[in-house]
Amino acid sequence: MSPAVASPPSLSDAAPLSLKAIQGPVAPDLTTFRQHFREAMRSRVRLLDTIVQYLLKRKGKQIRPTLVLLSAELCGGITERSYRGATLVELLHTATLVHDDVIDEAETRRGVASINALWKNKVGVLLGDYLLSRGLLLALDARDYDLLHITSDAVRRMSEGELLQLETARKLDMTEERYFQIIADKTGSLIAACMAAGAASAGADEETVARAKAIGETIGLAFQIRDDLFDYDPSATAGKPVGLDLQDRKMTLPLILALERADDPTRKRIRRIVRKRKKSRAEVDEVVTFVTTSGGLAEARARMVTLATDAADALGAFPVSDARDALVGLCAYVVARKA
Ligand code: IPE
Ligand code: IPE
Ligand code: MG
Ligand code: MG
Ligand code: MG
Repeated sequence: MSPAVASPPSLSDAAPLSLKAIQGPVAPDLTTFRQHFREAMRSRVRLLDTIVQYLLKRKGKQIRPTLVLLSAELCGGITERSYRGATLVELLHTATLVHDDVIDEAETRRGVASINALWKNKVGVLLGDYLLSRGLLLALDARDYDLLHITSDAVRRMSEGELLQLETARKLDMTEERYFQIIADKTGSLIAACMAAGAASAGADEETVARAKAIGETIGLAFQIRDDLFDYDPSATAGKPVGLDLQDRKMTLPLILALERADDPTRKRIRRIVRKRKKSRAEVDEVVTFVTTSGGLAEARARMVTLATDAADALGAFPVSDARDALVGLCAYVVARKA
């Protein structure tokens, strides 16, 4: 029996690792990635360069490039193309965050003022487009058409997911099924692309790329549920606004599950508050209390842990390696993370 079958990794076995420990097996590669990333954003236009420097100062967790590199290690080994894949996904991610803060009218990101808060929406829109184009050119110049295909498909899905989310908030006709479609498209797609790009950059066959991609998609779902839980947590330290989703009429999993469990009058009352364009502090607090006491929060957490466990289990089909252990650690980190 191969060791891969003898000791399948499990989420519960994995002691909660720090992000630094998870990144351990690819730490030197992340340093190389950071040089590429810095280089890829550079511009001779003064305003652009000022903003790029601002972005580089607040890096974020760099989970997506970490996934690309770990997936490459898992599927045969990191190559030059893996660094380009990592740079490409982080460029696309940064572009979508900048656009996302314009769309969500969010004033903070990574604990500091967002681009739109500092330079206004016009700059945010153009900067996002600039970063997107730099990513596309990076892949084209190197003729990395497979990576370009994988990531462009993710960008398409992200846009579709964001639009479906907008339309749903407008009509307030959210269902559990629709929620999962939205988060799969807006977040699962890029994390899936990270795993696929890593595998492809290592020269893995199509079937392996598809398996890696599916694991990424599942990790992405858990990742977005964790993010949506932050919106209900006043002690959250994610450096983003709290309660913004609710203000924006965005119904996320904790609220959806809470409403499913509520009696008719309660459901009516809560829906009436959520529907309001402008909610008072007291109204937001009432919804948060309802979601908490009805068990919606706990149930959403349980769903998230199940997804992360599924992803960790699926990793068991890959041969034992440090990269595989790190990826299982990342599944645990995604649900436990505080930022
Ligand atoms: C934020 O992603 C956007 C979501 C998909 C929820 P991250 O939490 O990975 O953002 P940074 O890059 O670490 O700031
Ligand atoms: C995920 O949604 C964002 C993207 C896919 C770009 P959110 O709007 O919840 O992300 P945050 O919370 O602002 O990072
Ligand atoms: Mg947002
Ligand atoms: Mg958003
Ligand atoms: Mg969010």
